[in-house]
Amino acid sequence: MSLPKPNVPMAGFQPDPTQDASLVCLADYEQAALAKLPPGPAAYYGGGANDERSLRENLAAFRRRWLLPRAMRGVAAVDLSTTVLGRKWPAPLFICPTALQRMAHPDGELATARAAAKRGLTFTLSTSASTDLAEVATAQGPRWYQVYLLADEGARRAMLERAIAHGYEAFVLTVDLQRLGRRERDIRVGFAITPGVYLPNIAAAAGVPLPDAPNVPFMSALTWKDVEWLAKLGLPVIVKGILRADDAQAAIDHGAAAIEVSNHGGRQLDGAISALEALPAIADAVKGRVPLLLDGGVRRGTDVLIALCAGATAIGIGRPVLWGLTVNGEAGVGRVLDLLLTELDYALALSGCANVAEATADLLSAQR
Ligand code: FNR
Ligand code: LAC
Repeated sequence: MSLPKPNVPMAGFQPDPTQDASLVCLADYEQAALAKLPPGPAAYYGGGANDERSLRENLAAFRRRWLLPRAMRGVAAVDLSTTVLGRKWPAPLFICPTALQRMAHPDGELATARAAAKRGLTFTLSTSASTDLAEVATAQGPRWYQVYLLADEGARRAMLERAIAHGYEAFVLTVDLQRLGRRERDIRVGFAITPGVYLPNIAAAAGVPLPDAPNVPFMSALTWKDVEWLAKLGLPVIVKGILRADDAQAAIDHGAAAIEVSNHGGRQLDGAISALEALPAIADAVKGRVPLLLDGGVRRGTDVLIALCAGATAIGIGRPVLWGLTVNGEAGVGRVLDLLLTELDYALALSGCANVAEATADLLSAQR
């Protein structure tokens, strides 16, 4: 991975020809992507459920937190590496599953997976991806497979067995999609999947022609027994969409190897608490027994730092990757990741942390 260059303290006093002056942070990518996307995909990628309270709160929760940086710790280089589920990661950062990436760019999920692989970052492929899981595997990076269980048992098994056969290292079971949230932006613009973009992993598993995949039903009414069933297939199961301490405990009791604290980017239950606000109670209950992943609203290196201090093991990003992909394919995703990695390096250094383990709760002020 191309880690940020060791910093020259006054480097900012000179123009840096390697920097694109119009795309300096993740918010710039969001603006550029929304200007480029047609109304349907812009609504689908950017939107949340109903009044979008949870969508806004995901970002606001980070803005309410303040840091108490440590001085005089002799910090020069920062080590961003960490360990998650027995694997050494270059940084506490991973890519969340987001559906239908070919609406952003013709290279879709393959471009995202390649950008992640080049940096050694883990990429999560959605069940509702628009690229076949075998093609994504050719990026040869660390990869997880996000699971929506298909209603038909044969199709359900077929999809999961294909993911295992193609080297996906964990299943990320999303548990907050009893039905698709009502995204009113989508309804207003009449969102429909871009013609020529399909759901090949669902089609292959169900044995239906590509255009029929959106009609293949998911299992409804999941229970904890389904986590046990999934865990028996042999890969570690990460339960995604947990917001309560008792559910975190239940997930562990039923075989979860990790928990992803998430409100699905504000796209499901509007009014659901942000992952950042939900995290402390969950961390108290879990007591370090399994890794705690967090996603939702992370847009800055300081957001990653705040989440680490609040008890997260690693942090996922969803939409920023779609913005990078829209603006410039694989290179755009790569730049989004590099910006966040650089910002995280700065956030740790400027807080007096030489490594991720030093990002502890005492760095967070009680002020809100
Ligand atoms: C998602 N998310 C999601 N989650 C999941 O488990 N399976 C999926 O297929 C999708 N699809 C999806 C599409 C789009 C367009 C978005 C924006 C999100 C949720 C995603 O994994 C993650 O929880 C949030 O995106 C994190 O919030 P941020 O980083 O987008 O603020
Ligand atoms: C979404 C689903 C596909 O959020 O997870 O749109």
